[in-house]
Amino acid sequence: EVLVSSTPEQTAARAAGAVLAALRRVAGRDPVLGLATGSSPLGLYRELGRAVERGDVDFSATYGVALDEYVGLPPGHPEGYRQVLLREVCEVVGLSPDRLAVPDGSSTDEASLEDSAAAYEARIADLGGVDVQVLGIGANGHLGFNEPGSALTSRTRIKRLSDRTRRDNARFFSGLDDVPTHCLTQGLGTILDARRLVLVATGDTKADAVAAALEGPLTASVPASVLQWHPDTVVCLDEAAAAGL
Ligand code: GLP
Repeated sequence: EVLVSSTPEQTAARAAGAVLAALRRVAGRDPVLGLATGSSPLGLYRELGRAVERGDVDFSATYGVALDEYVGLPPGHPEGYRQVLLREVCEVVGLSPDRLAVPDGSSTDEASLEDSAAAYEARIADLGGVDVQVLGIGANGHLGFNEPGSALTSRTRIKRLSDRTRRDNARFFSGLDDVPTHCLTQGLGTILDARRLVLVATGDTKADAVAAALEGPLTASVPASVLQWHPDTVVCLDEAAAAGL
């Protein structure tokens, strides 16, 4: 389902509606909300915060599951995705920090990182899987940190960040040299296991990636094209991001 709105605010509101509807379907266990970082979902998280204020929803029993994490940042680094999600989601919607799962990328030792990746997959399975996964899209079509060339059935693993992604994310660090070179990311196969996917994209810098993902061939060159494979995907765009469709 592709929903095109005229403003980023309306896009965020529709995305929040799609997330809340999926969480309301969960019965008999605590819901699991998959979380993306980046600027794209911020409006959606604020909308969820407003829904909490109105008393429409309560996230105190919800688990949050991150898509990805940088490798090698010290624990507590403000740009590590655990800290980012604590600020941008937990504080905004009232999700408990104890219920936030993020891959542990604090080691730089390959064997420990592989253990972290496997432990993360096991954690998601223990929680009963992700009910609804929030997604942004990289300008090169990446999902999470699954860069072009990622296997379509991949699971959580160590990945090298592309030069483009490191440059795009340098604004959060003091310079390009401080941007980590590697990450742990849920694989495309992991992401596809979520029961619903909600992708948010706004602005003309995403138009080419959105068009390639939704209307191009299903290909590892455009990781977000795997959305075409998922039976319950809601794509929320503003007109600028939809311009290439
Ligand atoms: C990072 C994240 C992705 C996100 C992307 C786009 O690379 N790992 O999950 O989708 O940035 O970021 P933005 O929404 O700021 O454009």
